[in-house]
Amino acid sequence: MPDASILDIRDVTKRFGGVTAVNRCSLALTPGKIYGLIGPNGSGKTTLFNCVTGIEPRDEGEIRFKGERIDGLKPHQVARRGIGRTFQIIRVFPELTALENLLVVTREPFETARRKAQELLKFVTLERLQHEYAGNLSYGQQKLLEFIRVLMTDPELILLDEPAAGVNRTLLNELLAAIARLRDQGKTILIVEHDMKVVMGLCEAVFVLDYGEKIAEGPPGVIQTDERVIEAYFGR
Ligand SMILES: Nc1ncnc2c1ncn2[C@@H]1O[C@H](COP(=O)(O)OP(=O)(O)O)[C@@H](O)[C@H]1O
Ligand SMILES: [Mg+2]
Repeated sequence: MPDASILDIRDVTKRFGGVTAVNRCSLALTPGKIYGLIGPNGSGKTTLFNCVTGIEPRDEGEIRFKGERIDGLKPHQVARRGIGRTFQIIRVFPELTALENLLVVTREPFETARRKAQELLKFVTLERLQHEYAGNLSYGQQKLLEFIRVLMTDPELILLDEPAAGVNRTLLNELLAAIARLRDQGKTILIVEHDMKVVMGLCEAVFVLDYGEKIAEGPPGVIQTDERVIEAYFGR
């Protein structure tokens, strides 16, 4: 793989007992682009994110971020290198306000952090809800909040695990526009998404997992007609 990759995953395997959740998976991301990661339920997408972010140490293989090995690092160390992620299951603090949810993830001086948080709330048009308890926000608004919380630490690589799932049309459009703006700012984004319309509209290239293995990779238009991909989704 070229050195220009921001993220380079090589032959990564992760097992849980007898289950091989990720199986000799390799993929490389060029900076400044949006990539999709798709595959049927249980195909290993979240586990791959967990391996990259140090939550589930990989069993085999190598993971490099900007040329340096990160497999073996702890989650906070990976985050400090510049990789941010969201979780498939929302992890906002319901008893904190939207603004407080953003402030708790940074160690910057309060005023700097607050300014940044308010800019990010504006970024996804949530600023009028900044003092609302996160638990009172709609599901979609909570997902947007979690998304911008990742941006508080200004990561270069952002992993989004089903950010659009359960989000209504209007908020979805906000989210997609925000993701595209991040790309335009030079960020690299890897997004797990089931809606092929979203994937087609956003992603430069798509990786397809099935039973933990990468079975296809390429532009979304090509992937959609790939026999193995169609088989993986509809063939059983
Ligand atoms: N912590 C875990 N312990 C045991 N098995 C797990 C664990 N996490 C995931 N798995 C298994 O690994 C496989 C891949 O799961 P996952 O990565 O969540 O898939 P996806 O995100 O593509 O739906 C599944 O068979 C799942 O049951
Ligand atoms: Mg998942």
